[in-house]
Amino acid sequence: MSFRLFSLFATLLAHTLFAQDTPGLAVTFTAAGKTDSRVDRLLSLYVPAGQAPTPFLTAGSFNAKWEGDIQSPLRGTFKLGVETSGKFKLSLNGQPLLDGAGLKTVQLNKGPNHLVAEITSAEKGDTFVRLNWASKDFPLEPVPPTILTHATRPELTAAAQLREGRLLFAQLNCAACHADIALLPAKGTGMPEFGQNAPLLAELGTKYKTAFLADWIADPHAIRPHTLMPKVFTGTDAGQKAADLAAMLTQGVAPAAEKPLEPKLAVAGGGLFANLGCIACHQRPDATGADAHDRIPLAHLRDKWQASALVEFLKDPAKAYPATRMPHFRLSDDEANQLATYLLTNGMLIKRKAIPGDVARGGALLVSAGCLNCHAGMPATTQPALAKITKAGAKGCLGGDDASRGTAPNFALNSDQRSALKTFLATDFASLKQDTPAEFAERQIKNLNCVACHARDGNVSIWTMVDGEAKKLRDALPVKEHIEGEPVADAPIPPLTWLGEKLQHDWMSKFIAGKIEYKPRTWLIGRMPGFPVHLAGDMALGLNHQHGLPQKEADEPAPTAEKITAGEKLLGADGGFNCITCHAVGDQAAPAVFEAPAINFVQTVERVRKGYFHRWVMAPIRIDPDTKMPKYADPEGMTQLTDPFDGKGAQQFDAIREYLRTVK
Ligand code: HEC
Ligand code: HEC
Ligand code: HEC
Ligand code: HEC
Ligand code: HEC
Repeated sequence: MSFRLFSLFATLLAHTLFAQDTPGLAVTFTAAGKTDSRVDRLLSLYVPAGQAPTPFLTAGSFNAKWEGDIQSPLRGTFKLGVETSGKFKLSLNGQPLLDGAGLKTVQLNKGPNHLVAEITSAEKGDTFVRLNWASKDFPLEPVPPTILTHATRPELTAAAQLREGRLLFAQLNCAACHADIALLPAKGTGMPEFGQNAPLLAELGTKYKTAFLADWIADPHAIRPHTLMPKVFTGTDAGQKAADLAAMLTQGVAPAAEKPLEPKLAVAGGGLFANLGCIACHQRPDATGADAHDRIPLAHLRDKWQASALVEFLKDPAKAYPATRMPHFRLSDDEANQLATYLLTNGMLIKRKAIPGDVARGGALLVSAGCLNCHAGMPATTQPALAKITKAGAKGCLGGDDASRGTAPNFALNSDQRSALKTFLATDFASLKQDTPAEFAERQIKNLNCVACHARDGNVSIWTMVDGEAKKLRDALPVKEHIEGEPVADAPIPPLTWLGEKLQHDWMSKFIAGKIEYKPRTWLIGRMPGFPVHLAGDMALGLNHQHGLPQKEADEPAPTAEKITAGEKLLGADGGFNCITCHAVGDQAAPAVFEAPAINFVQTVERVRKGYFHRWVMAPIRIDPDTKMPKYADPEGMTQLTDPFDGKGAQQFDAIREYLRTVK
């Protein structure tokens, strides 16, 4: 066979073999004789001593095995290195390469290089591992998630199904009606999504219109696909029951006297809808029908909300619903008014059949239909209890059609979700009593839709995908001359990919919760909304763990006088790198801030981890190919400034960082 034919054959083989590659590496954990698998984005891990590596295993010593491919962009010589506290081994393309911590040189093929790695947890203390690579073109960095893939296997599918079932069981609040004190954790302990109450059903008459409410109760999924609220009634009197409940829920309280809307605010509201990223999670209020990005519809708002109540909701979405997934944007009164006007003046008016309802019958249904089990945490009285439904099969709430469902609520589950729930019901529920931060973070990124706004692992955000739609709303804004230094709509926002490695846990927790008062990127119109009620601390910790990092690194010794002096000089224009043309330092503004605006270094000190600080400054384009931050070091780490530290970038940048630590 000629070489060309051979290589063609090899390529074909590679394509047939790897056609099913999916992102991430397969990891199999073993602890106390039980195994569990999942897919991780990176070859890294952090399991604090005494904690379980996954929710389905017990705490204590464990073993983890990764399998998959490094998809190398080039054929060539690389270095692979590992930092770990456990007993770690790695082989590549069938050859043993690493045994314990260290750095090895290796030839990578272009395309897939099969990887198998294994760790036994540390005998004492926390277990961690981080896999890095380097080449002659770039310094040591974590092996990025964009080049790690694996082939799916039945046990991975089964483990994913189990996790899906566990999440559905918690979020859909099955235990609100089918309880068992012996099997389930107490409310507020264990898996965070378990036992969260549905919205408070108080004073709805001040907020919503009665006819809409009846339609919502009759069929919530018709109004909001994927809502967690089930359709509770079936049969010919379902509409009447919903109307009775709507009458009961809105009785006695009238809406506040409404000021008429000022339609001229709508255009500004539309601009905010685009520029704040509402458009990444929601369809426009004038859009109907299926959405390519599965965003949450808002066309019904005009039919549902009293105007002043909508303004109040936008300012504090969690007020009546602590578990809400709608984030907190810290809107000003003007912004909330403009947004509400845009939403209400562009919505649809749907003709709803207003069936007169009976308040007394509604009051009785509120208890007997199980509404208050979810909405007020009323103890479950429904039969059968949990232990029995685990054996029921495809009946009741797990029925696939009205006949098999009978009088049970309809959660609009698809067949995958029903199988997932059945798989989970067959377990002993012990996984609800504990959780793993790395998995919690991954679930929340999906549940709270962080990727609506943030690019991640090479995938662009939904916000970017719907930019054409956003542009129309922006273009409708009155033309205004751009004043230098004013925030802009089209500056990039940081991808989520490396944030777990980049940011200090404490800062990241507060930032995700919406508790950092300043805005790091003052040049953006967009802002990070707050998620104050979603255990931002655990989410941030999970992101750190995904990158093999602890909550907090050991305290650093105080900077030395020599480094402080050198650092201050290196930062400046006179004999230094002149970092301060772009980066402000505290009150000292940066002159070139409008061309390549950067973050104030005083904030950087409390935000950024030491390891990432160095990685970024050594090779910024490795992290962000479009960044305007210059590169100061060559691949060997040498800079243009031979003095101080003989031109060694690592030491020079360290001095800069040490100096910055002293700036208040
Ligand atoms: C609002 C209360 C409520 C909630 C929440 C609820 N169920 Fe039910 N469930 C019922 C009622 C009522 C029945 C019907 C009982 C009957 O037929 O007597 C039922 C029946 C069932 C049955 C059939 C039991 C049998 O032996 O026939 C299964 C299985 C079931 N539910 C599973 C679930 C799962 C899984 C969830 C969460 C996704 C869930 N349920 C949430 C009220 C509820
Ligand atoms: C990260 C996704 C996300 C973003 C961004 C977002 N929302 Fe929401 N929003 C939700 C979700 C999810 C709900 C559904 C309620 C729930 O789950 O609690 C919701 C609910 C709403 C509702 C109530 C809908 C109803 O049927 O009554 C309104 C109004 C709303 N959002 C407006 C906005 C506006 C205005 C913005 C921008 C300032 C915005 N949202 C940004 C996720 C988001
Ligand atoms: C399995 C739990 C569950 C049951 C049972 C349930 N709900 Fe809900 N309900 C929810 C959740 C969760 C939401 C929030 C919507 C969302 O997350 O998409 C909700 C939303 C609502 C809302 C809108 C509230 C708001 O301010 O946005 C009303 C009204 C409501 N439910 C009434 C009822 C009534 C009446 C019943 C009984 C017939 C009932 N619910 C039964 C879980 C439930
Ligand atoms: C509505 C859009 C939007 C959503 C949804 C969103 N973010 Fe952000 N996020 C931003 C913007 C804009 C910034 C930049 C803010 C700044 O620097 O002023 C940001 C910044 C961040 C930062 C700081 C990064 C840095 O380097 O400064 C973190 C951490 C973060 N987001 C995490 C999350 C997580 C986790 C979620 C989901 C729970 C999420 N974001 C959802 C818009 C969003
Ligand atoms: C030409 C402008 C420019 C110069 C000069 C510059 N930077 Fe930057 N720097 C940037 C930009 C742009 C970013 C990324 C901002 C973002 O994340 O949105 C950045 C980010 C950083 C970050 C991450 C900060 C954080 O809080 O997220 C560090 C650390 C940093 N630069 C260090 C330096 C050092 C040290 C120097 C001098 C050796 C320097 N920079 C010179 C533009 C510059």
